[in-house]
Amino acid sequence: MNDLLKLMDLSGKEIDHILNVADQMKYNQKHGLIHNYLQGKTLAMIFEKNSTRTRVSFETGMYQLGGHALFLSGKESQIGRGEPIEDTARVLSRYCDGIMIRTYGQEEVEELAKYADIPVINGLTDFAHPCQVLADLMTIREKMTRLAGLKLTFIGDGNNMANSLIVGGLKCGMEVAVACPEGYDPDPKVLEFAKTAGKFTLTRDPGEAAADADAVFTDVWASMGQEGEAAKRRKTFEGIYQVNEKLMALTHSGCMVQHCLPAHRGEEITAETFEKHAEEIFDEAENRLHAQKAVMTILMGEGKL
Ligand code: CP
Ligand code: NVA
Repeated sequence: MNDLLKLMDLSGKEIDHILNVADQMKYNQKHGLIHNYLQGKTLAMIFEKNSTRTRVSFETGMYQLGGHALFLSGKESQIGRGEPIEDTARVLSRYCDGIMIRTYGQEEVEELAKYADIPVINGLTDFAHPCQVLADLMTIREKMTRLAGLKLTFIGDGNNMANSLIVGGLKCGMEVAVACPEGYDPDPKVLEFAKTAGKFTLTRDPGEAAADADAVFTDVWASMGQEGEAAKRRKTFEGIYQVNEKLMALTHSGCMVQHCLPAHRGEEITAETFEKHAEEIFDEAENRLHAQKAVMTILMGEGKL
């Protein structure tokens, strides 16, 4: 593993290894054990979209591992003035030890990785959110002690989260069910992968997807970059594609609710269901830190893990 661009690139075994290292990172931190796995190393973080969790967890994670992270806003760097991604990749490779990028097109991230001599980590594109889903899988495994054989359900837009959950869940031996409206399906490449990767259902009916679920996920109806479509999307999703108590009644008892955040209460999830599951949702947010420390150490460390 040289980069983390999308979960499709990883084997189930590699994902399992990341989750094991992530558990170790969490244990170490909770027990005051300090490991400077990335001493003297620098991570460049390119953000072309907003962020709270991704920025703070990567920057904090680098610091905790003895390294340093620097924030590059797309707008304020030369990227915003049109400097080609392949030049940015080669320049950052001369200064830094890794690059995290949050942007629009997946092809930009792939292009960056092609020209960079250092590891590239996808911090979200329109296509994928691999770091989030590693934290999600870690959280489910932590609460339920296993992944294989459990049912993961996603209700809502077939967006970056849906794409990465489908791939990550199936690679870890989970059953995956997705309910989304017509016209808002997950990416065709992901659906193609899902055909042969395990037990997968795509339905228009949230109730069907939620039946006997062990972990229910949802995400915003309009993602970053889709603000102009928000009203149209609301009309399509409203009243149907929502995680609420009626839907949760169809799931297995003890079913978890997960949300990558930020959440829009009253839209994709009710305030009541959100608050009932707040503890596990914020555990999920916390696990971004541990999962990314694992990813960075595996990719940028001296090969000990
Ligand atoms: N879940 C997530 O990626 O959050 P941010 O957009 O705040 O980084
Ligand atoms: N689907 C959302 C996820 C945010 C973390 C977006 O892309 O805006």
